Amino acid sequence: MKAFMGIVLILLAGLGASVWIGFHTKLSEGKLPYDDDQKGISEQVVIKFSHVVAENTPKGLAAQRFAQRVNEKSAGKIKIEVIPNGGLYSDQEELEALQRGDVQMIAPATTKLSSFSSKWQVLDLPYMMPTRDSIIEALNGEIGETLLGSLEERNMKGLALWTNGFKQITTNDGPIVQPSDLKGQRLRIMPSPVLERQFELVGAKAIGLDFNETYRLLESRELNGEENTISNIYSKKFFDVQSDLTISNHGFLGYAVIMNEDFWTKLTNDQQTIISEALDETTRWNQTQSFEMNDEQLSLIEDNSSIDIHYLTNEEKREWAKRWQPLYREFEEEIGKELLSKMIKLRNNNKDF
Ligand code: LMR
Repeated sequence: MKAFMGIVLILLAGLGASVWIGFHTKLSEGKLPYDDDQKGISEQVVIKFSHVVAENTPKGLAAQRFAQRVNEKSAGKIKIEVIPNGGLYSDQEELEALQRGDVQMIAPATTKLSSFSSKWQVLDLPYMMPTRDSIIEALNGEIGETLLGSLEERNMKGLALWTNGFKQITTNDGPIVQPSDLKGQRLRIMPSPVLERQFELVGAKAIGLDFNETYRLLESRELNGEENTISNIYSKKFFDVQSDLTISNHGFLGYAVIMNEDFWTKLTNDQQTIISEALDETTRWNQTQSFEMNDEQLSLIEDNSSIDIHYLTNEEKREWAKRWQPLYREFEEEIGKELLSKMIKLRNNNKDF
């Protein structure tokens, strides 16, 4: 028995020594023992994609779908890490973080890009894109291309344009049916000279503030109201702290999907192709799904909340549009005559009231 134990001990010691020698030889050669997981990690490109809205929104869902398609197409070699709800950066911070390269991808509302190029303001003009078709035509055509191209000189690669939907008005001091109903009210808007002026023209005071501050300011009644899409009103529960919702469809809210330019150019051609293809697929899906989602969530608000909903008639819409008409002339120079006249032509071909 003793002899047997001795043999086992000698064998174990030999095995241990050979494993030790093998391991250290690899280390001295600068190699680690082969490990599938480690190989995967060292080859994986990780792209942080930060945004400010909830996951159950047109942008939140599109970001997740895009991440999933990239993962499938790259067999896990490119990972899109989506951080929603302003978990990493607030509205203004995310733009600065992208330019520094601290985050690689964002999808801010197009309104928030007007500080980089005033051309983007064309999408904020009220009743500029009266129908869903006119929005898709503008974003997917020459107008969208011009706008995305305007970001290049700011170290940003504009990759795609996503939709959310039409903006509506909510307030605690409603109902808002005529332009004069907004007189003296304080409203939250996205920071934008066009939006500020839009509400000034109807006697209200609009203040550019972070999206994720809105609920608190409405609840505490520091503000009377705000404008946003149904999906943002629903997902952030603004309907809980507002008495009236006006379905005005007066403005557009959509997103530019942007990557840090230096990061983009360092990707290989294959990686760029995977990302572009996944984005094309996601954009096609988003441009239908976003409108349906806003419709569904309006029904949910209607059925499950006590907010009063007012649908503007065509005649009422014409009244608001008339009050806002001076904006087109006021911002013509900043936007550029050519771009503005293309949009006006599009609007006139799609007018529905
Ligand atoms: C807002 O600030 O109201 C929107 O930009 C939020 C969003 O990204 O949809």
